[in-house]
Amino acid sequence: MTSPDDSVLPEHGRSAEELRGLIAEWQSGDIDWKGGRAFSLVYNAADPELEALQHHVADRFLHENALNPFAYPSLRRMEHEVVGVAAELFGTDAKAGTMSSGGTESILLAVYTAREQARDRGVHQPRLVLAQTAHPAFTKAAHYLGVDEVRVPVGADLRADVDAMAGEVDGRTALVVGSSPCYPYGVIDPISDLAALARDAGTLCHVDACLGGWLLPFWREIGEPVPPWNFEVDGVTSISADIHKYGYCFKGASVIMYRDEDMKRRQHFIFDGWPGGLYGSATTAGTRPASPIAAAWATTQHLGHDGYLAKARMVRDATSIFLAGVRGIDGLQISGDPDMSLFEFSSTEGSETTGAIGDVMDDRGWHLDRQQGGLHLMVSPGHLAVADQFVADLAEAVAAHGQSRGVAASYGGVADDAG
Ligand SMILES: Cc1ncc(COP(=O)(O)O)c(C=O)c1O
Repeated sequence: MTSPDDSVLPEHGRSAEELRGLIAEWQSGDIDWKGGRAFSLVYNAADPELEALQHHVADRFLHENALNPFAYPSLRRMEHEVVGVAAELFGTDAKAGTMSSGGTESILLAVYTAREQARDRGVHQPRLVLAQTAHPAFTKAAHYLGVDEVRVPVGADLRADVDAMAGEVDGRTALVVGSSPCYPYGVIDPISDLAALARDAGTLCHVDACLGGWLLPFWREIGEPVPPWNFEVDGVTSISADIHKYGYCFKGASVIMYRDEDMKRRQHFIFDGWPGGLYGSATTAGTRPASPIAAAWATTQHLGHDGYLAKARMVRDATSIFLAGVRGIDGLQISGDPDMSLFEFSSTEGSETTGAIGDVMDDRGWHLDRQQGGLHLMVSPGHLAVADQFVADLAEAVAAHGQSRGVAASYGGVADDAG
């Protein structure tokens, strides 16, 4: 038992003013994403008008609950329209998807659907086949759902090695996975070949477009090469795509889309074996926050086609500066040939020097992600204003750095032991 003195819950409530002050103080130690110095976790749209709209919408829907869509026709309509936009962008039926809270939940639902489908055809121990570069959310889903998985090494171009994956596909395969693009290297897997592999094996194919889903349609329109990756590819059966990434909504907004509505219905959970009335839900959560749904709707409607094109141009222009900058510095190399707006780079002298360069960049206030093979950055519209400064700082870091502090590779930009 704790005494009131060391209790974490204060004996008497603290004033809102005191708490506001404390929060401001604590937040001052968090990463500075608004200044364009963070390269993951937040996708900085550099759009004060959009941000003000999102604050307004979040406030309006702070207390609503999307658990029962029939209680809030407004939310039902908004979710329906957001899913409709995704359906149009990816080439499927507007009824063939739902929103979810993020990439991990969308992936969990896709794996669940695949597991159920495999069980229906008599497979008792289903297995996922994926490239080594697929997001850890698949391994997490496999772990939660009691599904096996095999991660297959990628080819020399860092993309999924279709022949090697074909060697792993068998009657137990519930799902073949491709990324569009993958997180570590920003390259797009050969989706057409993976989908054909799955189709020929009579199984499903998921495209993880958590990163690319809300950018690639516009990337292609601004003239960048984009290989086929969505439902236009025969054999692709589901797609995950995060609106809280390049869709520029705040956190808690993703979509999971299927080739048809019947497949989506496998996600639904309905239960009436208790005294509380019929319980139905389409995703993993029960109570669902309303703000991300409303904000996803407001964001997509506010930006519209021309808004997303404009953001895509900013991301493309910033990415070009970063890539050209890294390529122009002697002693640095980029891993593979990135297809979109994120990439890994490293020192040609090895991991010690790469780490030391990362340390200097940390000291200069840049929050680069550390991967096992190098430093990682993901580019948002907000980086356009700072890209030249970044390249100048990086050149200096390469020219003058000390010993590596040995910061560990850690997903999400900041390691516990960072300097
Ligand atoms: C390719 C990819 N898939 C899935 C995810 C998981 O998304 P979330 O963190 O929203 O759960 C991420 C996150 O960065 C990702 O990059």
